[in-house]
Amino acid sequence: MKRKTYKGLTFRPFIDKETISEQVARLGQRISADYAGEYPLLVCVLNGAAPFAIDLFRALDIDAEITFIRLKSYEGTGSTGTVKQIMGLNEDLTGRHVIIVEDIIDTGRTMKRLQADVSAMNPASVRVATLLFKPEALEVKIEPDYIGFEIPKKFIIGYGLDIDGMARNLNEIYVLDEESEA
Ligand code: IMP
Ligand code: MG
Repeated sequence: MKRKTYKGLTFRPFIDKETISEQVARLGQRISADYAGEYPLLVCVLNGAAPFAIDLFRALDIDAEITFIRLKSYEGTGSTGTVKQIMGLNEDLTGRHVIIVEDIIDTGRTMKRLQADVSAMNPASVRVATLLFKPEALEVKIEPDYIGFEIPKKFIIGYGLDIDGMARNLNEIYVLDEESEA
C-alpha cells in the first residue's frame, strides 16, 4: 500500500483490506448471533456507509433486510445550526429491529439525531453499527453497539469515506499524514 495524495494532502495506509474484511466478518457473526430468530433491518446511511453496510449485510447468516437513506442538511432558521433530515426511507419501522449502519462517528451529532428520528418511528429496537469510532472526538453521548475500529481523532479516507467526494473507492483505509502537512 502506497501513500495517496488528494487536494494536496498526503494520506498514509492505516487499515488494510484483510483487516477490514476480518473485522466485518466478526461483526456479521456477532449480529447474526444477537438477532437469531429475528429479522433485522439494516439502515445504511449513504453515501459513506455503503461499502461497509453491503459487506456487513453479506456477512450475516440470518435473514435480514437492508435499506438506504440519505441525510439532507439544511441550515435551521433558529439558533440550532445545521439540521439533518432523513430522506428516502420508505419502510415502515413499526415493530422492526433496526440497525443503523454508519461509516464513522466523529462528534456523534449526526448519530444522535438519527437515533432520535428512528426511535420516533416506533421500532421494536434500535442499535448502531459503525465501521469507525473516534471516542476522543465525541461531543454528545453515543455508545455504538457494534464498532469496527476505535481510532484516534484523525481524518480518514477510503472504503466509503471521502475527501470532497474522492477516495471512496479505495479498498483500504488511509489516514491524513500530519507530518507531511506543510
Ligand atoms: P459527526 O456528526 O461529527 O459524528 O460526523 C459524522 C459524519 O462526518 C460522518 O458520517 C462523515 O460523513 C463525516 N466524517 C467525520 N469524520 C470523518 C473522517 O475522518 N473522514 C471522512 N468523513 C468524516
Ligand atoms: Mg456518513
